[in-house]
Amino acid sequence: VDEAIPPSKRIRGTKEELAYPSVSKALQVKPVPFQQPTSLLTFSYTPSHDLVWDDSAMRYYADPPRGAELGYGYERWIKRPEERGRIDSLLKAWTRARDRQGGMPEIGVVSWRGVMTKILTAPYEERDGWDLSVMYLNGTLYLEEHSSEERLKQKEDMNPRQRTQTYYGYAFESWCTSSKLDGQESLSDRPSGWGGDVDTNVQWCNVVKTKLGDIRMVIGGEVDCIRGTQFGRFIEPHNSNEFSGTRKDAFVELKTSLSIRDQRDEARFEKKLLKFYFQSFLLGVPEIIVGFRTPSGRLTTIQSFKTIELPRLIRGKPGAWDPQLCLDWGQRFLSHLKTVVQQEPENSNQVWRIRFMPGKGVSLSALDKDGVKDVEAGEERVGFLPKWFWEQEME
Ligand code: A3P
Ligand code: MG
Ligand code: MG
Repeated sequence: VDEAIPPSKRIRGTKEELAYPSVSKALQVKPVPFQQPTSLLTFSYTPSHDLVWDDSAMRYYADPPRGAELGYGYERWIKRPEERGRIDSLLKAWTRARDRQGGMPEIGVVSWRGVMTKILTAPYEERDGWDLSVMYLNGTLYLEEHSSEERLKQKEDMNPRQRTQTYYGYAFESWCTSSKLDGQESLSDRPSGWGGDVDTNVQWCNVVKTKLGDIRMVIGGEVDCIRGTQFGRFIEPHNSNEFSGTRKDAFVELKTSLSIRDQRDEARFEKKLLKFYFQSFLLGVPEIIVGFRTPSGRLTTIQSFKTIELPRLIRGKPGAWDPQLCLDWGQRFLSHLKTVVQQEPENSNQVWRIRFMPGKGVSLSALDKDGVKDVEAGEERVGFLPKWFWEQEME
């Protein structure tokens, strides 16, 4: 597949095609090592979506009341508008972590966790395509999701049903979390167990360092909550953003899903677990708590999964997937990308576009200067990278 592209085709303006693997080849791939992610730093977004270098948005897991209504508080939802998944805060966090450590070995890839999840799960994706923008600076690939204006508008103009269902996911987070370790919120006019009205501006993020094969990566993503105690150890709330391994051990990802009624539902759920798996795995989140709900949003049961046990759990089942196939694909995809963009090392302002088409594969093309329409008025960018970052890296 990828190896078959002749060097003569690697020219600007042409399209590179990379076919993706057949999922039936799963048994033939050689395991690609993935290093256990280590946390570099954490940060929070405030209700005004300002980035702050603390754990003020961190929440503790609290067992939710069964039968809870996930539609509760819908009319008070403070919904963050849909926007481009800019890489800016990740670059700020990475720069900060690197300065604090007095440098770091060369990093091959910097991206948000959502982008890496999309890349790794592509071999099994049958429905949704995606586009990425890529830049290459001093040996590092920067990846950012590219959404067209129409796509952003589509997302913002969600129909009422989709909007309600999206809210269920956030309400589950509120029913499952507390800003206090003991889970006792004192919200006088709110039902017991409700962790506070949903404000999707507020997020707690973790930035990790890891390695896929021989590619070092810096990945950032949201962590839903942490377990307040782990192995009997007490965890200090909001003390600092210097991570101890203790706290990383207790990360929890929260998910909702429709209750399973028959074998078809079960197979569908098993398929969905692939995304849950990589989303959590990439940040080193060891536990996924799934809240099963009725179609109208009543919480029925909850189930906890150990992230690393998921591949074995679904093996041989109707909705089975093989994480090794995904890791192997991911490594080949990133290596291929690097090989192609390295053909033009002097073009640190070159933006590349990757398009993934389900069932087909990915194509890579170099955008010409006029093709880079990402830049919004008033924003200082080189390609899609913030100018301050680009200049800092070019020094
Ligand atoms: P569920 O996944 O439980 O439905 P996350 O699970 O990643 O922490 O995200 C929290 C919630 O945000 C999701 O809850 C879902 O409601 C919403 N959400 C996340 N990604 C989404 C997407 N791509 N499209 C629509 N809603 C999304
Ligand atoms: Mg989340
Ligand atoms: Mg979640």
